[in-house]
Amino acid sequence: MKSVGIIGVGTYLPEQVVTNHDLEKLVNTDDEWIRTRTGIEERRIASNEMDTSDMAIIAAKKALINASLDVSDIDLIIVATATADSVFPSVACMVQEALEAHHIPAMDLSAACTGFVYALVTGKQFIETNTYKNVLIIGSEKFSKIIDWTDRNTCVLFGDGAGAVVLSEVSQGKGILAFELGAEGTGGKHLFVDKQTNYVAMNGREVFKFAARQVPESCLNAIKKAGLETTDIDYFVPHQANTRIIDAARERLGLAKEKVSATIKEHGNTSAASIPLALFTEIENGKINENDIIVMVGFGGGLTWGSVVLRWGK
Ligand code: UT7
Repeated sequence: MKSVGIIGVGTYLPEQVVTNHDLEKLVNTDDEWIRTRTGIEERRIASNEMDTSDMAIIAAKKALINASLDVSDIDLIIVATATADSVFPSVACMVQEALEAHHIPAMDLSAACTGFVYALVTGKQFIETNTYKNVLIIGSEKFSKIIDWTDRNTCVLFGDGAGAVVLSEVSQGKGILAFELGAEGTGGKHLFVDKQTNYVAMNGREVFKFAARQVPESCLNAIKKAGLETTDIDYFVPHQANTRIIDAARERLGLAKEKVSATIKEHGNTSAASIPLALFTEIENGKINENDIIVMVGFGGGLTWGSVVLRWGK
């Protein structure tokens, strides 16, 4: 079987920064509560002109440049999103049009905040089986359009953004070593988009309990499948939903703080975009290097979860 890994990364963050203090003017909240309960200090919010597809397109173009590939090299586009511009056409088809990647297959994947991990694992299957050579995976979200800006329980948590990666064959021993995907529909009622209002509704405490339990378990399962130990982990890139969830997972995995990405402070929770945004940030920070063992974990609406263990490099 072929080894499949990430050979290029690109991101987009909207220009507008919304701080916790800005939100104090909208709802009955305060910077101290948001920082201590979530770890968030600011988030980016996309303009009215910028929808999920626009952010996805920018991130995708940057990922292609970063991978030194042309559009003609891409065989499949998968966009993980919960905030598509419309029910259809898919965001992936909009990206395909913008890239002029005529005729190649393109589809959206719905797994909420776990969408990027699900998409990564889906793309890997096509390359591993020799069906396609290069797959463009994008996580793009404009949660600001499905947020009730008068609901302090949710409006302080989310941000907008996009991240894209190019998946391709890499040298044996590198790339994705193991993964675990999971879902539990009985928990769907704890995090959903309300049919009447079209806004995100969440039972924060229940989602928190689920994540605190499932995130470390899923990581441990994937690490075991890879034939590794927690002591082999060089860097941990969890979905950025709450610093307390990340800290609980970090402690359970026995990792030092320096080995864990914490971009939530500046990005907030960007759902399916959070892992590629964090990955790119840490590559830029010099935290992720050739041959490092990286663990990524996503969790969210569905309820869904997924972990990927990979050895970084081509
Ligand atoms: O990416 C998708 C996955 N989503 C998540 O992982 C979210 C998981 N859950 C969480 O991150 C946390 O549950 C929250 C950050 C959403 C909430 O933190 P919490 O410590 O679980 O707080 P809580 O919901 O138990 O609320 C505690 C208090 C409540 O007041 P009372 O009832 O104790 O008087 C809330 O009304 O905090 C109040 N509260 C706020 N206060 C100030 C809730 N939101 C706010 C706010 N500002 N924005």
